[in-house]
Amino acid sequence: MRFRNNSNTQKSSIAITQLYHLNAEAMSHTIPLVDLRAQYVAIRADIDSAIQNVIDTTSFVMGPAVRQFEEAFAAFCGVTHGIGVSNGTAAIELALRAVGVGPGDEVITAAHTFIATAEAISNVGAKPVFVDIDPMTYTLAPAAVAAAITPATRALLPVHLYGQPANMTALMQLAHQHNLIVIEDAAQAHGATWQGKAAGGLADIACFSFYPGKNLGAYGDAGAVMTNNAAFAEQVRLLRNHGRRSKYVHDLVGANERIDTLQAAILGAKLPYLAEWTAKRQALAARYHSLLADAEIVLPTVAAEATSAWHLYVIRTPQRDQLLSFLKEHGVEAGIHYPVPLHLQPAYANLGYQRGDLPVTETVADTCLSLPIYPEMTEAQQDRVAELIHIFLSQKS
Ligand SMILES: Cc1ncc(COP(=O)(O)O)c(C=O)c1O
Repeated sequence: MRFRNNSNTQKSSIAITQLYHLNAEAMSHTIPLVDLRAQYVAIRADIDSAIQNVIDTTSFVMGPAVRQFEEAFAAFCGVTHGIGVSNGTAAIELALRAVGVGPGDEVITAAHTFIATAEAISNVGAKPVFVDIDPMTYTLAPAAVAAAITPATRALLPVHLYGQPANMTALMQLAHQHNLIVIEDAAQAHGATWQGKAAGGLADIACFSFYPGKNLGAYGDAGAVMTNNAAFAEQVRLLRNHGRRSKYVHDLVGANERIDTLQAAILGAKLPYLAEWTAKRQALAARYHSLLADAEIVLPTVAAEATSAWHLYVIRTPQRDQLLSFLKEHGVEAGIHYPVPLHLQPAYANLGYQRGDLPVTETVADTCLSLPIYPEMTEAQQDRVAELIHIFLSQKS
């Protein structure tokens, strides 16, 4: 773990003067964790015409915008098949069902993630097996995965957390050795890369969420499954639409998990901007790194093989809860992703995990803090976040 020394601790009198100034400023502006309105205002004409087009054609379910977006996003991810679905949780569930994971199977995943990752495993009747994460990247630790493989293991479900791909070289190698399927949870990683290849095309099948606050966000719920495997793609297409190949013939028992045409149209209008938005997030992350270089906090680390899509910029400090309150008092909406790891959630008490079972996960959950980051964030807003962190730390030292 890297703890940085605070070499330029400010004197507390200066800090108090700054606080008065910042308090006054905070009354007039808050800095959100993500600003969906600023993004809409910037691309209003594209969004409005995409929505109006769906209304004009009244193709509300499985209209042409669905296939158009699926093809465009598959190309963006460098894969041959894209299937739009109702949300990211459904994407994982349908991917698991499509590759044949079901009752009696174990799926190895992270406990430091949003609950949807594990819920999908449980909802297909399989058992989530939680393993620890790497202390630098916060993604699945390949050695922990290797140690958890049993004869019942069918799949690995790495999460590209905060926008950074998991160690896909090591995980794909393990999967190859043990004949396992690998499913990417890329819900936070639109536009991230591992060894130059885009997230979504790094394993057997991949799942995305387009929840509004995601790097590519719909105006409601939406998700997608991406794969190069034609048979898996066909299964997901059937499963999301009542097992239907034609209107009145149902080949299997599926579900209604289709992406909404309006959402597909909105996502199609936003997709051309995604690379530029990712570059802006990357520039903001680099700027946070330099603004906070001297602060006594742990800054995020990106593996040499990866580029992060910087869905979240997550720092760590043992004083996380106090820093979160301080930032909130001064108009900065920071967040915690995620305070209670999945192996300690009441919903998974039946699995029998105890505190202490996943020490890195638990330490990260106790100390992580997500700072605001979104493409429309201004340098002045970012300066203020960094300044507040410096003031907080100088008061504590
Ligand atoms: C890592 C991760 N997996 C899965 C999901 C589920 O996506 P959704 O909310 O679209 O169901 C999310 C987002 O909410 C997520 O962050």
